[in-house]
Amino acid sequence: MTLDTVDAAVGGPAPSPLLLLLGRGTDPASERGVDCPGDLPSASDPDLVERARAAKAALGDSVFVLGHHYQRDEVIQFADVTGDSFKLARDAAARPDARHIVFCGVHFMAESADILTAERQGVILPDLAAGCSMADMATAEQVEQAWDALVDAGAADGTVPVTYMNSSAAIKGFTGRHDGTVCTSSNARRALEWAFGPDRRGERVLFLPDQHLGRNTAVRELGLSLTDCVVYNPHRPNGGLTARQLRDAKMILWKGHCSVHGRFSRACVDEVRARIPGVTVIAHPECQYEVVTAADLVGSTEYIIKVVDEAPPGSAFAVGTELNLVRRLANRHPDKTVAFLDKTVCYCSTMNRIDLPHLVWTLESLVRGEVVNRVTVDPDIAANARKALETMLALP
Ligand code: 13P
Ligand code: SF4
Repeated sequence: MTLDTVDAAVGGPAPSPLLLLLGRGTDPASERGVDCPGDLPSASDPDLVERARAAKAALGDSVFVLGHHYQRDEVIQFADVTGDSFKLARDAAARPDARHIVFCGVHFMAESADILTAERQGVILPDLAAGCSMADMATAEQVEQAWDALVDAGAADGTVPVTYMNSSAAIKGFTGRHDGTVCTSSNARRALEWAFGPDRRGERVLFLPDQHLGRNTAVRELGLSLTDCVVYNPHRPNGGLTARQLRDAKMILWKGHCSVHGRFSRACVDEVRARIPGVTVIAHPECQYEVVTAADLVGSTEYIIKVVDEAPPGSAFAVGTELNLVRRLANRHPDKTVAFLDKTVCYCSTMNRIDLPHLVWTLESLVRGEVVNRVTVDPDIAANARKALETMLALP
């Protein structure tokens, strides 16, 4: 399937330039930064690719560029390594020689890279406004209140926090302080097995902040039942749960979700099956339970890429994840059908904030000896967050 066919299938072209303007101003309620103070090159500058190439060559091994699979093609072409959240965290930690790590992804990923790299290394996010709406759904204050509710209910002992990578450093710090672990969509099962298994012997897990990844993993992969799971709503007293419900639960799921993956519905799966006979539906585990149970395959972005790459010519897929990745897969495999699971456009607007002008500005600033948009985590938070991240990296 060609790019045009994908555009037609999803009902529209690439995002409007309006996206480029978003993110200016302030947003104190967010985990991310808010402003990009630099003088960005114009998006219409025909020399942007050449400028990025020249700046990167001038910087040589002193810079290492990481690119998440949801990044735009114009950015991905300059990534030294691409990956899912887990792979990028591991790759950042494995590059002690790079003076500058340019993270083409979102804010929580850059924070995690800062925590896992040496102090002399600087982690740079080309646009500080590239946050994550899911990460913003759990603030440190709300999570502390939830823990107090667990203490009051007599349920804190025996509760192991497991936090998705898509969370602020402060939440990861909370998790480390309470001897929990971080997880990503590619190791959530192992994280839950660790929490309930002989290492931690947890009676229940407090899963932050994505209720869908928590529920999908617990029910589909660990064999727990839907009634073992309760949803903690941070906007209601005690999460809207009784002390008994907190004590009896095996999975206390934070009421957070990804607005991109939340768009896919059971109806999308039914529609694509009717439209493309024999199609294999692959969904990311951030999708709702009713979607992943209707899908044929479920996995992280890295897994989705592997499945499509390894499929024989003529295969047909409908993919439930962010559109930049689905379009890239469709372009890479003109001999296969790679359709988007929804009929309407579904980019992650914050991932899309990192564009070529921001990357060029970042790299050219480094060439001039100016470090812009460095992401740093408070050392006290970082120490506990590192513990939770290292627990994840050591999961069997
Ligand atoms: P993975 O890359 O770990 O699959 O996560 C997807 C995501 O939503 C990152 O924000
Ligand atoms: Fe956050 Fe969803 Fe975007 Fe990932 S795709 S960065 S979870 S909003």
